[in-house]
Amino acid sequence: MQEKSHIPLSKVYMDDETVEAVSEVLGSGWYVLGEKVREFEKRFAEFCGVKHAVCTSSGTAAIFLSLLAIDLRPGDEVIVPSFSFIATASPVLHIGAKPIFTDVNLRTYTLTQHEVKQKLSKRTKAIIPVHLFGHPADMDPIMKIAEENNLVVIEDACQAHGAEYKGRKVGGIGQIACFSFYPSKNMTVCGDGGIVTTNNDEIAEKIRMIRDHGRIEKYTHKIVGYNLRFNEIQAAIGIKQLEKLQGWNEARRKIAQAYNEALNNLVVVPVEEHWAKRVYHMYVIRTEKRNNLRQFLRENGISTGIHYPIPIPKQPAMTNVLGELSSFKNSELAAKTVLSLPLYPQLSINEIECVCAKISEFFKKFKS
Ligand SMILES: Cc1ncc(COP(=O)(O)O)c(C=O)c1O
Repeated sequence: MQEKSHIPLSKVYMDDETVEAVSEVLGSGWYVLGEKVREFEKRFAEFCGVKHAVCTSSGTAAIFLSLLAIDLRPGDEVIVPSFSFIATASPVLHIGAKPIFTDVNLRTYTLTQHEVKQKLSKRTKAIIPVHLFGHPADMDPIMKIAEENNLVVIEDACQAHGAEYKGRKVGGIGQIACFSFYPSKNMTVCGDGGIVTTNNDEIAEKIRMIRDHGRIEKYTHKIVGYNLRFNEIQAAIGIKQLEKLQGWNEARRKIAQAYNEALNNLVVVPVEEHWAKRVYHMYVIRTEKRNNLRQFLRENGISTGIHYPIPIPKQPAMTNVLGELSSFKNSELAAKTVLSLPLYPQLSINEIECVCAKISEFFKKFKS
């Protein structure tokens, strides 16, 4: 029997050049926070158009360190979207502060000013807008609210390397931004890794210190810090991936366009607001028949994902600490209906056509 072809949800790109860069580091004898990390940080800062970039052990660590750097305290509140990966909110809890969950809009699954305004309190210290699935949040109104209320904005750009808001790259719009290099992201370091970007000298310096045991000299520690450092091998991979990122993002956009044209009449396809340039970390459709469609595609060798099946405030990890929270209508609807289709820069036209043909077949069958 002929085996069904398999189309994965995402795929990591690897080439000889990257393997050589890794070999070079292996032979160098220096593996943690060295020359490669500094070079990667410099290049990533240039890419985002900011003064500083500081590598961290993950995107989660980047968010955690950012919250420590703004001196978030127990009892403080941080406004976060209810529809995202849990790591947007969990670092807030690690500090003993409180995530205040806010519903998202159903066009881009990002925060809206109306929802944010409703959740402000005297204890609010920061807002974390997430540029979910590679589409930027509408930052101008959020920055205005922050300015009027003396709040810090930390962009969660973990899914949005290279995305643009009104012609500006994300990562330099809020006071701080956090990126992840987990393997499924638009660029990776083939493992865990993250980076913080900022134009603020003091914040950058503080994050550098806290990520490395509060160190100011080899064995002088100014504050109690953590080990949330970054490795040379991963920096070498990151440098190579960053060189290709723009091209990959363009390829993602073209694939998304092809999907849009083929699927527009069958499902709710992703939108791009006129002020945004999205980078399609995920290509996320919406349909009431999500679970059946997913099963049908699986049977036909096509992998899909659900990002995310449970809104963050409904996660047991959150209800255990915060109790039952309600009124996240859009997030709950999204959780029941979203489906991520295969998307990576090397996805071929044949594969795109195959995915679309199978989706079309599913809807024909379902109707009859
Ligand atoms: C929106 C969002 N925030 C935070 C994170 C955390 O990043 P990491 O997995 O690198 O810790 C991720 C990664 O999956 C993410 O997608």
